[in-house]
Amino acid sequence: MRFRSAQYLRHTMAHLLAPSLLSADFANLQQAVELIETSEAAWHHLDVMDGVFVPNITFGMPVIKALRKHARKPFDVHLMIVRPEQYITAFRDAGADLLSVHLEASTHLHRTVQAIKAAGMKAGVAINPHSRVDLLEDVLADLDLVCMMSVNPGFGGQQFIERTYARIAALKELRAKCGSKALIEIDGGVSAENAGKLVAAGADVLVAGNSVFGAADPRTAIRTLVGA
Ligand code: DX5
Ligand code: ZN
Repeated sequence: MRFRSAQYLRHTMAHLLAPSLLSADFANLQQAVELIETSEAAWHHLDVMDGVFVPNITFGMPVIKALRKHARKPFDVHLMIVRPEQYITAFRDAGADLLSVHLEASTHLHRTVQAIKAAGMKAGVAINPHSRVDLLEDVLADLDLVCMMSVNPGFGGQQFIERTYARIAALKELRAKCGSKALIEIDGGVSAENAGKLVAAGADVLVAGNSVFGAADPRTAIRTLVGA
């Protein structure tokens, strides 16, 4: 397991940055992974899309497995696929350290979360912008991470949904009520403009695709977002 406390647990001061490879050059993914490895970013964020749960298709286990050889930092794998429970051990074997499934895609979410943990990974649940945060109440204590979507999943470079701030506040309150230690990860439309406000609102992990790999200098963009 590649998680060490400094890479996983949020310490008082620092939030974690997980650049998303979705916005990297797919012909040069190894290079993108190596950039993340040698930067201040904590995790790699890998977006798996199936063309069914979301209207886009990206990559799956073979690509993740190939990239794993070039990385030591944790792989934060975000599944935007239907029936994610069918592929838990396959993603573990490919090299996922943290596996997030969508609340909206897993009928037996409680069982899926237990299966992810039993497979030796950290368990995350991703939640779409329209789904009530309250729906997490009965699984929150079991989670290591909530991936709160701040865009509708499927594409990089979309506009951040402002209502996310109110949703972070609701999730923080629910997390305290449930005695959960789940990290709050914000995914979609994160940039240098809103990163500081998101961290102040309670974000523990920021995912950033376009604002890192769309930048003229991705390394500087990472430094800015880590320092937000
Ligand atoms: C969207 C993905 C995100 C995406 C974020 O469905 O889950 O991880 O890469 O991209 P940006 O940061 O460009 O909004
Ligand atoms: Zn994602």
